[in-house]
Amino acid sequence: SDSEENTSSDNFQVVGTLDELEAEGSLTDDVAGVIVVLNKSNQLIALDLACPHRGCDVALHEGGERLACPCHGSQFTIRGNVLQGPARTNLNTYEVKTEDNQVLVKV
Ligand code: FES
Repeated sequence: SDSEENTSSDNFQVVGTLDELEAEGSLTDDVAGVIVVLNKSNQLIALDLACPHRGCDVALHEGGERLACPCHGSQFTIRGNVLQGPARTNLNTYEVKTEDNQVLVKV
């Protein structure tokens, strides 16, 4: 798409590098409020960092195919759908892309 040529005209924000993502399993950006993960097919997925229950930061669950909240145990699929409460709403997802080694999310 032509949007790749001009990142200043849209709302994509750099949240880290692909190297960091691959090394750590996820990228988080507190200011943007997003977490970026890779699914089994190596697709990038950007989601809300804040758990919809009471706002703790979710994190990649060990094993990598779900997200978990450390505060009260909510779990979400890698696409943000609630698997286990107390959260009752899904994590929103955001457009994500790469440019060279950078990971950008539209927030
Ligand atoms: Fe996430 Fe309560 S804040 S489960």
